[in-house]
Amino acid sequence: MGLRLSGKGQQSHRMVIFLAIFILMMLFFLYCSNNSNNVTYIPFHVVINHPLKTTDLKKWAGKDGYVAVYGNKSMTLRYHTCALVTSSSHVLGSRAGEEIDRTECVIRMNDAPTLGYEADVGNRTSLRVVAHSSVFRVVRRPNELLQHTDSNPVIIFWGPPNKIGKDAKGTLYRLIQRVSMAYSNLSCFSIAPGKMRKFDGLFRRETGRDRQKSHSWLSTGWFTMVIAIEICDSIKVYGMVPPNHCVRKPGSKKMPYHYYKPRGPDECLTYLQNESGRKGNHHRFITEKQVFARWAKQYNITFIHPKW
Ligand SMILES: *[C@@H]1O[C@H](CO)[C@@H](O)[C@H](O)[C@H]1NC(C)=O
Ligand SMILES: *[C@@H]1O[C@H](CO)[C@@H](O)[C@H](O)[C@H]1NC(C)=O
Ligand SMILES: *[C@@H]1O[C@H](CO)[C@@H](O)[C@H](O)[C@H]1NC(C)=O
Ligand SMILES: *[C@@H]1O[C@H](CO)[C@@H](O)[C@H](O)[C@H]1NC(C)=O
Ligand SMILES: *[C@@H]1O[C@H](CO)[C@@H](O)[C@H](O)[C@H]1NC(C)=O
Repeated sequence: MGLRLSGKGQQSHRMVIFLAIFILMMLFFLYCSNNSNNVTYIPFHVVINHPLKTTDLKKWAGKDGYVAVYGNKSMTLRYHTCALVTSSSHVLGSRAGEEIDRTECVIRMNDAPTLGYEADVGNRTSLRVVAHSSVFRVVRRPNELLQHTDSNPVIIFWGPPNKIGKDAKGTLYRLIQRVSMAYSNLSCFSIAPGKMRKFDGLFRRETGRDRQKSHSWLSTGWFTMVIAIEICDSIKVYGMVPPNHCVRKPGSKKMPYHYYKPRGPDECLTYLQNESGRKGNHHRFITEKQVFARWAKQYNITFIHPKW
């Protein structure tokens, strides 16, 4: 009797332990899947089976896409070789500065500095592509970002026409105008409203997604890459990772999003969060890179540091 009872007791004891282990495993599983939801690569990506209509970026250009902010200059840049220096921390330690400086045209983005980073990013700037949201940051450091350049540098501003367009008499436009009047060697252009729409159309053709309906912003990288293809016969891109780079490898090192902000956000986290964002407008950094990878086969584009 007593033996039997203790046998039953042992059984229910075992049941409790099994149940506890089962619950723990479920919790662990839930935790993992939850966690991986945050970090796995959920591509916004190119629509599957989307018939790609390639655009010849060498031809679509046209000179009227860029409007001089001051005076009546026209954008006539043409180069054989260009270095497109990204703002990614992957450029750090590349020691590519001298090679970059030897290139005919050096292209930079937004307020990416050279001062203090010359060994890795070089010290010349021929063309800077600046987002409306970065205008203040560029203007705040004129000595470094506007003067410390080639003898006749060009700045191209992109943004919504109601902010930087010629008809927009807002603060931002007046600021850009003052800058281009003050620095006579500097040629400032803004992307014309019609051309801005063409950039949206290009995104639609290349990804099968409507930019606005899919709550996406184009990145400065997108504008810069297209402009570089328009004006350069061959392009070396410094510091851009391939589209699949942020598929999580356990233990992969954190890399700052910008080389000049070592304590800033992590690059992959920024890419992945933007890529999977559905509410609000997001940059589709990874999708854009998928398109760049395609363009690299069509045009003369090579990626270094990392090489791909
Ligand atoms: C552009 O400016 C130059 C002088 O800087 C002038 O000779 C020329 O007529 C102007 N062109 C137009 C289209 O306004
Ligand atoms: C920066 O520019 C100077 C010329 O002004 C050049 O001699 C030097 O090599 C450049 N530095 C780097 C690191 O590229
Ligand atoms: C402006 O350009 C002239 C010649 O084109 C050059 O001599 C001068 O140094 C330049 N000034 C600046 C601030 O770059
Ligand atoms: C690609 O670039 C190289 C030099 O970097 C040049 O010789 C070649 O003509 C370019 N090809 C095309 C199709 O532009
Ligand atoms: C998206 O990218 C921008 C940088 O362009 C960054 O400031 C922002 O925090 C990112 N958004 C998310 C949700 O990570």
